[in-house]
Amino acid sequence: MSRPRRELRSVTGVEQVGPYTLVRLDRGGLDPGRPGQFFMLEAPGRVLPRPLSLCLAPPGELAFLIDAVGPGTTALAELGVGEAIHVFGPLGNGYRLDVPEPLLVAGGIGIAPLPYLAEALGGAPAVLGFRSERHAEAAALLPGADVVIDPVLVTDAIDYGRSILACGPEPMLRAIRARAPHAQLAWEAPMACGYGACYGCVVEIDRHLERLCIAGPVLCS
Ligand SMILES: Cc1cc2nc3c(=O)[nH]c(=O)nc-3n(C[C@H](O)[C@H](O)[C@H](O)COP(=O)(O)OP(=O)(O)OC[C@H]3O[C@@H](n4cnc5c(N)ncnc54)[C@H](O)[C@@H]3O)c2cc1C
Ligand code: FES
Repeated sequence: MSRPRRELRSVTGVEQVGPYTLVRLDRGGLDPGRPGQFFMLEAPGRVLPRPLSLCLAPPGELAFLIDAVGPGTTALAELGVGEAIHVFGPLGNGYRLDVPEPLLVAGGIGIAPLPYLAEALGGAPAVLGFRSERHAEAAALLPGADVVIDPVLVTDAIDYGRSILACGPEPMLRAIRARAPHAQLAWEAPMACGYGACYGCVVEIDRHLERLCIAGPVLCS
């Protein structure tokens, strides 16, 4: 298991991918960790860092795909090349890779961890769902993936006989879990620390309260 580190890292590139922003950071001494693990990124001007899944890990870099939904993610998406932020990770539990016939599934920004996951698996089929053609431009990060756009639902386009590794909005994850109880699903909760100290991310799992940052974010029943 990789040991998390906190480092000040520089932005090496910023690219628009449809409505999302891919921010590349100089990797320094940070370990990319397992696909599905996350990092806490300092959001300029905000008190708390924000959790982001690692999207790509090319040599010497760590790249994060950002959906600017609020002040923290907007500040991160507005970073410029050469600016530096504190980065802490890798954190949490990622996907298990030793599964037969993996199928990667994402909805919207849930595509974020899948490019690194696909690389670690040596390639795997993927089904991606987006709300518009513009959002679907992000599918370029996962060449060869099948893409559906609303009103077609990604949950209607999956082979449930395969081992599903998914990330996306909660209704999508719940629908997958109902038909594939052993799917590996990456859940979200607001996170302040990322390592079990603040109890800000407590969720109910199997009738127990757990801190998602250390029990997850990837859970499998
Ligand atoms: C483990 C993990 C990995 C993540 N990976 C990515 C990623 O790769 N790319 C990406 O763009 N986003 C990712 N997110 C979500 C991202 O962290 C939040 O969107 C971000 O923290 C929101 O901060 P903000 O200041 O921009 O908006 P805020 O003003 O804090 O929030 C905007 C809206 O989103 C809601 N919200 C905020 N955080 C969450 C959350 N974690 N779950 C559900 N609703 C939330 C708020 O209630 C509010 O309605 C991840 C979250 C987790 C927990
Ligand atoms: S984010 Fe602090 S305990 Fe999980």
